[in-house]
Amino acid sequence: MKSNSSRSLFFALVIFLVGSYSHGEMGLPSLKDNMSSMGTLVNGIAKGMNDVTTYSKSVASAEDIRKLLEVIVTQVPDSIEAMNKSKQASELLIFQGLITQVEGLDIQLAGALENGDKVMVTGVLNDMLALKKKGHDRFKL
Ligand code: HEM
Repeated sequence: MKSNSSRSLFFALVIFLVGSYSHGEMGLPSLKDNMSSMGTLVNGIAKGMNDVTTYSKSVASAEDIRKLLEVIVTQVPDSIEAMNKSKQASELLIFQGLITQVEGLDIQLAGALENGDKVMVTGVLNDMLALKKKGHDRFKL
């Protein structure tokens, strides 16, 4: 009797852990976590865009954004999971294409920051915002 209830408790714990892990609450960060981190980094860069003395710190943030994007491009938005199976593969390619475009802009941004090119920093940040809107309109629930 005692061992039966211990076993049930054990399995309940395993199910909880597996469930939490698959939702990104434990273990690896979810897409939502990574997007949120990227948002914080982009906002930090944008805040300092008129002050060239912040640029060396921003170069490091752009590098962190690139690392996040490398993970993000392997993740699947809930909106795609919820789609009809027949549409998922093509939608995932579109998602990955947009994320790769953000990555391209992020590399340009790092270069502009390194060169202290305020006009280009501002321009690339605006292009990023436009891609963010495009991605969110299509894939954010
Ligand atoms: C520089 C560009 C981007 C920034 C700064 C950004 C930032 C964010 C932020 C702050 C969130 C909300 C996270 C939260 O709820 O805590 C989010 C969610 C999301 N973003 Fe982005 N994003 C960008 C580009 C994109 C692109 C291009 C796509 C799609 C191709 C995309 C897809 C999503 C999705 C699907 C979510 C919802 C995640 C979830 O709640 O599971 N984002 N993003």
